Amino acid sequence: MEVERVQSIASLAKHADTIPSDYIRSENEQPAATTAHGVVLEVPVIDLGGASNDEEIVRLISEASRDWGIFQVVNHGISGEVISKLQKVGREFFDLPKEEKEKIAKTSESGIEGYGTTLQKEIEGKKGWVDHLFHKIWPPAAINYKFWPKNPPSYREANEEYAQRLREVSDKLIRWLSVGLELEEQELKVAMGGDDTIYLMKINYYPPCPRPDLALGVVAHTDMSALTILVPNEVQGLQVFRDNRWYDVKYIPNALIIHVGDQIEILSNGKYKAVFHRTTVNKDQTRMSWPVFLEPPPEHEVGPIPKLISEENPAKYKTKKYRDYVYCKLNKLPQ
Ligand code: SIN
Ligand code: FE2
Repeated sequence: MEVERVQSIASLAKHADTIPSDYIRSENEQPAATTAHGVVLEVPVIDLGGASNDEEIVRLISEASRDWGIFQVVNHGISGEVISKLQKVGREFFDLPKEEKEKIAKTSESGIEGYGTTLQKEIEGKKGWVDHLFHKIWPPAAINYKFWPKNPPSYREANEEYAQRLREVSDKLIRWLSVGLELEEQELKVAMGGDDTIYLMKINYYPPCPRPDLALGVVAHTDMSALTILVPNEVQGLQVFRDNRWYDVKYIPNALIIHVGDQIEILSNGKYKAVFHRTTVNKDQTRMSWPVFLEPPPEHEVGPIPKLISEENPAKYKTKKYRDYVYCKLNKLPQ
């Protein structure tokens, strides 16, 4: 069955002043009615090259993960050039004719990977104004190049380069997060799945939307992953929920945005918080973002790390396989 892509709907609706009703959120979700206007939220910005010692970075990262569940990092060691290339090849893929993109479309058998549009109507039968592409980028044994665009030809090189650099940053972040929990440096990494942790790349493509006041890109959620590391393009869109309002998160060129996901909240027994976030869309510009989800392997069991629980601080979460966690979350079953 032919799937309707938001990119096609958007190109037909370019000069319209309305959008199909499937995309009009209920009033309690509409950006115009629920965004704190005129304020851009300064989530913590952590300079990984600037701190005089690791202790200082550990403190900043663990406070940000406890109080916000989101922070941005600058001077992270991935060059602007590597990030620009990743963005360029992603953009070029979405600029290809529809038939070209459909060659790597996900099917009912292909699982999460491939080019797609969320069909499941998420909340109150409404859809998000976004198309996407998912493919794993690490570890090598998990990669299926079938889902990597062949076009542009430099797609693979740009993504491999980014994946390599990204793992250097993620290893450091996870070590610091581990020390912030008063664990050994490697303990959190091992609890997330160690070297089998899966790095899943997603590209979000949010085409221009005639009614950005009424639609949402991705609806409010916390990430299921352990940790998400994201680069956006320059178009504003990420929002974080704080004090009962939605706030725009400031765009900082070349920064990485780090989201604490559900699995780190669970492993830390609630000390670190998964951040509740969503995205808005823009009237004239295409927004894109490149989150990489760091996920435990499906059969890996995740629960509060035993050292972090005690009689005074009992486990707040169940221990279960990551695949079972995902199943419950996607089917809105109790965890
Ligand atoms: C997401 O949370 O899935 C998307 C975030 C973004 O586009 O910035
Ligand atoms: Fe997310």
